[in-house]
Amino acid sequence: MEKREHWGSKFGFILAAAGSAIGLGNIWKFPYIAGENGGAAFVFIYLICIALIGLPVLMAEVLMGRTTQRNPVGAFKKLSGKPFWVAVGSLGVIAGFVILSFYTVIAGWSIGYIVEALKGSFSQFSDPAVSSAYFEARVGDVNWIVGYHTLFSILTMWVVYAGINKGIEQGSKIMMPILFFLLIILVIRGITLPGAEKGLNFLWSPDWSKITGQSVLIALGHAFFTISLGMGAMMTYGSYLSEKDHIPSAALQIVFLDTLIALLAGIAIFSSVFAMGQDPAAGPGLIFHTLPVVFAKMPGGAIWAVLFFLLLTLAALTSAISLLEVVVAYFVDERRWKRHNAVLVFGCIVLLIGIPSALSFNVMKEVHFFGKTWFDNADYLASNILLPGGGLFIAIFVGWIWEFDKVLIELKKGSESLFDTYPIIIKGWRIFLRYLSPVMILIVFLHSVNLLESAWQQVQSSWVIILMLVSVLIKVFQNKK
Ligand code: TRP
Repeated sequence: MEKREHWGSKFGFILAAAGSAIGLGNIWKFPYIAGENGGAAFVFIYLICIALIGLPVLMAEVLMGRTTQRNPVGAFKKLSGKPFWVAVGSLGVIAGFVILSFYTVIAGWSIGYIVEALKGSFSQFSDPAVSSAYFEARVGDVNWIVGYHTLFSILTMWVVYAGINKGIEQGSKIMMPILFFLLIILVIRGITLPGAEKGLNFLWSPDWSKITGQSVLIALGHAFFTISLGMGAMMTYGSYLSEKDHIPSAALQIVFLDTLIALLAGIAIFSSVFAMGQDPAAGPGLIFHTLPVVFAKMPGGAIWAVLFFLLLTLAALTSAISLLEVVVAYFVDERRWKRHNAVLVFGCIVLLIGIPSALSFNVMKEVHFFGKTWFDNADYLASNILLPGGGLFIAIFVGWIWEFDKVLIELKKGSESLFDTYPIIIKGWRIFLRYLSPVMILIVFLHSVNLLESAWQQVQSSWVIILMLVSVLIKVFQNKK
């Protein structure tokens, strides 16, 4: 077997993991869901979810990876060996395939929009109707959409092919500072536009009336997606860490960077959107429909547009490599493949599975499976089933199944002094993992498979039953050990 690579430094790991976390979720999704759910009030709830659930689960994933030095399947195999838990790891690898296959399609649009911006295509956009028609025409063109999807997939393969140090770590060390720099420029551009303060007010003055049970669930679901939790991506990155690294501090820094970038993206986008008199609640189309109009109205707009879509592409690329790395690590560790072969073979397979997702916007628009297009199915399966399911089981595994004495020994490696000084941290972490995270994730999970929407009342009463079932399951697993 090839010798396992390790991150060159803790800083390299933090940049790579922050690169995984910071992606389309931060720059495309966070601003529009915050916009739709009451701005500051939503941001507040989101921050609580990140701190109370995201951070503990992130620590759990990284710890499982570092302890076992394996991909998700190998990690569960080493720590438990029970077929059930190995299956949980396999679902992570499958989720990697599925998410990557549609993520590259959206990331491809972003590369396409860099090219459109360079060509000056946005300069004639007078209102969002024109720009959305333009967008529809682009994604309606099979060559355009499949071409950029392929290009982005090749870029992803290229980085992962070069390995952990020379590819992912080095790539993140180059791309993350550029990303940060571009975002700062765009924030300065945004907040210095006349009328930008309306955008900032929108983002910072809480409208508590817009907060509903639904928005709390959206905040929690997004907290998971944005930190790349629930499928072993962070576990895999953790598996290239060595024992001297301080996991709690690394996790805190990753979460901090991810949140910072999401907030800065919100500032850059909303200050410009308000200053240019556009609709902040445009939803998913905010970036591809509304922003080109904003750029058209700005002096030097084409340059800002190029910078913005470059930012989005880099963010997506550092996330996509973490998804491909999960798949590759599995084949390298468990099936003894050579990294290069695994990258080429599975990179191409992901590229092919992504093609029907790309075609879902044109020739396969009307082809529905289970009432949805291929793209929507892939997104739904990953975001609403595989990720919350994976997150739930990871929290249960580390909270309940993995012997806590052993967990403690592993966690303390590299961070002895923290736990000696503040034992409360470790107690709190365990309580969150054992109770708060599983219950909250379960709520999100049931919600996202639509069980809660129509029959909220009814399901609320069946909560007791569900919780009882879960505790019985946990007991069964514990006794089997
Ligand atoms: N976190 C990334 C984003 O915000 C997406 C992502 C990358 C991801 N790897 C993941 C999400 C693993 C879930 C699991 O866009």
